[in-house]
Amino acid sequence: MCSNDLRELASEIRRCERCGLSQTRRNAVPGDGPENARIMMIGEAPGAAEDLAGRPFVGRAGALLDRALDLAGLDRGEIFITNIVKCRPPGNRRPTEEEIRACMPYLRKQIEIIRPSAICLLGNVPAKAILGVQGVTSLRGRIFDDLYLITFHPAAVLRNMSRMELFVSDLAKLKGMRSGSMAHMQ
Ligand code: URA
Repeated sequence: MCSNDLRELASEIRRCERCGLSQTRRNAVPGDGPENARIMMIGEAPGAAEDLAGRPFVGRAGALLDRALDLAGLDRGEIFITNIVKCRPPGNRRPTEEEIRACMPYLRKQIEIIRPSAICLLGNVPAKAILGVQGVTSLRGRIFDDLYLITFHPAAVLRNMSRMELFVSDLAKLKGMRSGSMAHMQ
């Protein structure tokens, strides 16, 4: 379980039956992007469009993310994008603690293989699952351990477009994060 090869790992994820989400998904969504990505982005869970496509952030929230990345001067093709849980929770409910726990070894392995120098946590679910913190409205734009940047989830920006400017400025910070503490490797 948990291959050291990113593509092998993606195949493992597509076959995964570690939690009940495997019973309701159409496709697991391992993540997208190059193995040598310097930046990683972590969302919450696939939605309906992602479940159909087997790829992350391809629906409305994804279109907004693409636009924001563009405005921030970042190239999506150079970023590894994934989620805390790799399968869609029915009705787009939040993933449970148990589902997050079952799926976390895959994310840890992805981080270990890619060794990014910046990891962007999109919204409260990844911020809580990885850093144990909550309250994106006040924490957004902050960098933890020289490695993690917290910002809004793109769906939250879609719901309130006045957040777009802050979202783009948060994303632009990823360009300056070069070293990374590698705290995630310990
Ligand atoms: N929302 C997420 O958190 N992840 C996706 O992949 C799509 C929508």
